[in-house]
Amino acid sequence: MKSMKKMLALLMALVLTFALVGCGGSSDDAAAPADNGATEEKTEEAPADDASADDATADDTAEAGDSEGGLIKVGYAQIGAESDWRLANTESFKQQFTEENGYELIFNDGQQKQENQIKAIRDFIAQDVDYIVLAPVVETGWDTVLQEAKDAGIPVILSDRGVDVADDSLYTTQVCGDFVLEGNNAGDWLAQELKDKGRDKEEINVCVIEGTTGASAATGRKEGFAAKADENGWKILDSQDGDFTQEGGQEVMESFLKNYDDIDVVVCANDNEAFGAIAAIEAAGKTTGPEGDIWIISFDAVKQGFQYMVDGKLNCDVECNPLYGPKIDEIIKKLENGEELEKLSHPEEGVFDYKTAADLIDSRPY
Ligand code: AHR
Repeated sequence: MKSMKKMLALLMALVLTFALVGCGGSSDDAAAPADNGATEEKTEEAPADDASADDATADDTAEAGDSEGGLIKVGYAQIGAESDWRLANTESFKQQFTEENGYELIFNDGQQKQENQIKAIRDFIAQDVDYIVLAPVVETGWDTVLQEAKDAGIPVILSDRGVDVADDSLYTTQVCGDFVLEGNNAGDWLAQELKDKGRDKEEINVCVIEGTTGASAATGRKEGFAAKADENGWKILDSQDGDFTQEGGQEVMESFLKNYDDIDVVVCANDNEAFGAIAAIEAAGKTTGPEGDIWIISFDAVKQGFQYMVDGKLNCDVECNPLYGPKIDEIIKKLENGEELEKLSHPEEGVFDYKTAADLIDSRPY
């Protein structure tokens, strides 16, 4: 069943060639892109392996993708290396997509630039990979390149973040965190904590350090938390992009501290931003955490985030699980077996705070 879509595309092209030659059509017409639709097509029976040789270029390319030691060739267009989460995510893919597990992994670090990721996808297409895994840095701007992958008969699996495309058959399936829910969970945690501390009637001033503008993880978390802020009557003093990095978090926090002297809570879009924000707050002579001047809420729940909670600097960490390697492996195996897939799925994610961090830190897998 391997590369069934590419074989189907090839078979369709050959059928068209014969049909058009029979009808006196030109071979240029026959070379029009085959229909390489989405997942359902992969559930159809595979065409015969010898869907052969008239179109030498197409045939050679398909063979190359299919036959190197029987390995499945996967191109992973990773966002970058901006956070502890991202490093754990990369490691998860590298551990899973090994030759022993039947894969050849072509890994590309996009350095947080969409143009690099687009180029990587084009390189994967040129290398005739069997599957493309894309962690899209931002949501928009993918239609053209994903259409190119579809035309080449290569299924695209979205991992970690989502895209905003006009035609959702441009990708096969998407597995990512439920970012709005994560933002909601952060707000629910804060509402409960304020109540537990007898502060739920106070005016609460919040600053938000957002993730990369245009990234689904940033937009979802921001929206999810803002809905809870509305519900609870908290005032959002300011909200700025920290690009999911420690330096970004620190810089944004420094500017917040210059502009506001009455911040109660800072919500950071990931742990690395929180580490930077905490450094900025401490440098300004203030403290953070449950006993501190400013409460900090963050996302990811990486081990270092737990350490900050154990150390009393971070209040709450909403989990975003980076270990997608095994899940994407499972998805590819299903596609290889022609199984139907859900269009969208989310991993299970928890909410952790300073009260339980010490008990859990040693069991954290990333
Ligand atoms: O898309 C997931 C987010 O991206 C994680 O929260 C963050 O750490 C990463 O950079």
